Amino acid sequence: MTLTRKLSLAVLGMSAAVVDVTGTMAATASAAPSPAAAAIATRQANFKKMGGAMKALKDQLASGTIDKAKAVGAARTLAATGRAQGRLFPNGSGASSGIKTGALPAVWSNRTQFDAALKAYVVQADKLVAVAGTGNAAAIGAQFKAVGGTCAACHKQFRADD
Ligand code: HEC
Repeated sequence: MTLTRKLSLAVLGMSAAVVDVTGTMAATASAAPSPAAAAIATRQANFKKMGGAMKALKDQLASGTIDKAKAVGAARTLAATGRAQGRLFPNGSGASSGIKTGALPAVWSNRTQFDAALKAYVVQADKLVAVAGTGNAAAIGAQFKAVGGTCAACHKQFRADD
């Protein structure tokens, strides 16, 4: 082996070490998520929780037996979790963040309407809490639909199709 070859191998070895160090640094940086990443992960988890609460109510309605305490619990989750969502759409947490999100740019370009859609949802979810406390299946069913309508209305305008 020529001296040149040995030298270039040494250089390669060194650059491999540099790549390794860079990789480690990148991993450390991603361990502390950016505010946008944290907001996206939290709001998606919250929406999943809301989906779970809707399913719990739907199952109760389908079974024809309302467990009042469980229905009120699910309705409270819907209201409280929905209320928290407004703060979880900070500027820069859309597609421009480079993070996978179903939130359309309209959330930020049309913020007043997005906030109104969220408010309309919270109003209906609060009503569901009150109605759930009656244990009346027909009334709960009607209000469940009203809440679902506000989920769908917001998705139509502000959420990308899956
Ligand atoms: C004010 C607007 C708005 C309302 C109201 C709303 N959503 Fe959403 N939802 C969104 C947006 C925007 C996203 C995309 C979030 C993202 O990916 O960053 C989303 C995403 C979701 C997701 C996917 C979450 C994930 O894992 O990526 C589910 C499930 C969901 N919503 C369910 C619901 C249900 C159920 C309701 C009503 C009980 C509801 N949403 C009400 C705007 C809304």
